[in-house]
Amino acid sequence: ALVVRHRMRCSGKWARAIAILKDFEETCGTPISKLRLVADAMTVEMHAGLASEGGSKLKMIISYIDNLPTGDEKGLFYALDLGGTNFRVLRIVLGGKENHVIKPEFEEFSIPPHLMTESSEALFDYIVQALAKFVATEGEGLHVSPGRQRELGFTFSFPVRQTSISSGTLIKWTKGFSIEDTVGQDVVAELTKAMERAGLDMRVAALVNDTIGTLAGGRYYDQDTIAAVILGTGTNAAYVERAHAIPKWQGLLPKSGEMVINMEWGNFRSSHLPLTEYDHALDVESLNPGEQIFEKMISGMYLGEVVRRVLCKMAEEAAFFGDTVPPKLKIPFILRTPDMSAMHEDTTPDLKLVGSKLKDILEISNSSLKMRKAIVAICEAVAIRGARLSAAGIVGILKKLGRDTVKDGEKQKSVIAVDGGLFEHYTKFRECLRSTLKELLGEEVSENIVIKLSNDGSGIGAALLAASHSQYLEVEES
Ligand code: GLC
Repeated sequence: ALVVRHRMRCSGKWARAIAILKDFEETCGTPISKLRLVADAMTVEMHAGLASEGGSKLKMIISYIDNLPTGDEKGLFYALDLGGTNFRVLRIVLGGKENHVIKPEFEEFSIPPHLMTESSEALFDYIVQALAKFVATEGEGLHVSPGRQRELGFTFSFPVRQTSISSGTLIKWTKGFSIEDTVGQDVVAELTKAMERAGLDMRVAALVNDTIGTLAGGRYYDQDTIAAVILGTGTNAAYVERAHAIPKWQGLLPKSGEMVINMEWGNFRSSHLPLTEYDHALDVESLNPGEQIFEKMISGMYLGEVVRRVLCKMAEEAAFFGDTVPPKLKIPFILRTPDMSAMHEDTTPDLKLVGSKLKDILEISNSSLKMRKAIVAICEAVAIRGARLSAAGIVGILKKLGRDTVKDGEKQKSVIAVDGGLFEHYTKFRECLRSTLKELLGEEVSENIVIKLSNDGSGIGAALLAASHSQYLEVEES
């Protein structure tokens, strides 16, 4: 009788755990009808954000870039890419139309976590130190012509109110950075001061968001590139807009008639988003509550954390892992998205890899196969929701540009350059994004939409933009 009662108690708990899982799956469902509403809302917010400053949750930031690289750019340029837990420095020689990028070299450094919250000076000094070391390795025959200052494209992947191509103030931090004294400051001035402190003679020729860098890099190789999307630690998009479709632009109409817009779509929000109690809790406890809601549902910094929160509830309320909640499971952000994707994509017999991840990360050693299957189901729900919402966002942009339909049988190719570890490494996420786009756009239209992985387009793009905005350009042309 005791055994039977014990079994009944267990199966009651199991049923409760599965009910939590089912409820989660249902709440974060993304039927196509809902995705269409999300895409439409994205288009509407784009209009509102372009109409007036502060007109929408979408900042629709004017990048001051009205000409994307053509391929004619020449010379030695640097780029500095800061936007996640790592930063990179890059040096390239541009060889003009014939030779393109001749000698790309780069180095990557991780940012010690304490620098993400300490002080502006400490962060920029740290970065410049690495940059200066890298510059010192400039090889024989590579150096800039005598009397010329080295020039740098600065990719700074946070919301910045641009004041010119080479200046802009930080609106707010995102993605786990939170340094109060940088907010409202010109980040180029901050970087320049740090370079002066380090005795590094270098000029920032272009300040760009990673989406803008990726767009520029994409356009350099393919003239049909019209937008760029980042799916990495954070998420965002940029695209080429017609200048006269930007009512809030006060300046002269650019010759090209175009202007690149950094949407900051991570901050998108709509009543149509399938938010769950776990998303709300994640948001409330985050460094930036109420902000970056779209990003918190989609990007690499957060996906694993949503999975952890669902598991935590199953452990707490349905003894999913036994009578006690595994202590490690209570640690925020302990389950990283790369580990989540490894579990999700586990093809070993009996989900052995899920088992070993549970053990290594959460110190859970007694998982059964049906528990492991339930965990894969949570990963699936979270990843698929993120991928489908990203596809809806892209459709929102295509709609804004009138590229979501085939006009008069005319086939117009649209290339979207995508960069970021989430897209590059999470196969199921990437495949789902692609198939959802097809589902939303239909066979005929989607034949002309190319989603192109642009590996490190952002660093090269920033160097290209530094080249096309070089202080020496006019001298050389005349
Ligand atoms: C965050 C930043 C944005 C950046 C994106 C991708 O959303 O606010 O500027 O482009 O992450 O790195």
